[in-house]
Amino acid sequence: MKICQEIDDWKAIKETLPKDKTLGVVMTMGALHSGHASLIKQSQKDNDYTLVSIFINPTQFNDKKDFDHYPNTWESDIQLLKSLNVDFVLSPHKEALYHDNYHYQINEKHFSHILCGRARPGHFDGVLTIVMKLLLISGATRAYFGEKDYQQYQLIKKMAEAFFVPTKIISCPTVREKTGLALSSRNLRLNNQAKEKAIRFAHIIQTHHCLTDAITQLEKENIQIDYLEEHNQRRYAAVFIDGIRLIDNFPISEIHMTQDKEPS
Ligand code: PAF
Repeated sequence: MKICQEIDDWKAIKETLPKDKTLGVVMTMGALHSGHASLIKQSQKDNDYTLVSIFINPTQFNDKKDFDHYPNTWESDIQLLKSLNVDFVLSPHKEALYHDNYHYQINEKHFSHILCGRARPGHFDGVLTIVMKLLLISGATRAYFGEKDYQQYQLIKKMAEAFFVPTKIISCPTVREKTGLALSSRNLRLNNQAKEKAIRFAHIIQTHHCLTDAITQLEKENIQIDYLEEHNQRRYAAVFIDGIRLIDNFPISEIHMTQDKEPS
């Protein structure tokens, strides 16, 4: 597995890859878990080569404390990527990616201003800007994003269409624990009690058909709601548990199906 910290090193490798071979990219901020592994496996199935980027992107954190506490697990991330037989890792320095001091940004004017965008001003500007940079640097045939961040996936897909980016944007299903909790790098920060609450959060929003019932239930369990809304046949939720922000979403059709299921 070749690890590049310089963008030029990656570009030199890319030049040597046969032009008729395909490349998949999985963009991450590290703290890798089985959710990332499932994106990597999908990329390996679809492509000749897979590149994983690791970059904790400062411009998408509207809260400096959140950025400072974001887990950094470089050693175990690299071990996991090696065990998955990833071909290339790209982990550039902030100064190289933002040599323009973030003077150039991508702004979306509609969908990025609701849900996570309302709660975290500037968040999607940071996400879209770094994703555009990494799409162009990677030159990938396909890029893979998890459905846990469904709003992010939709914004990236529409951005790629708007700017005629040739990379195909592909979504992969959310990976969940047996308990129903969606895997997230932020779960690493939950203690046992907070983890129990997080499991209740996932269960409540998936099993209460009526939004107001779900809100009442979350409030009863002292789970602080950031938002709980439905758009285009999908339910989106964000909560704070012990100050840690967790998000999740479900297609409304799946909420009907699991209404009476208890968490295991
Ligand atoms: O989903 C993430 O981990 C990040 O938002 C991404 C896409 C890697 C951009 O920094």
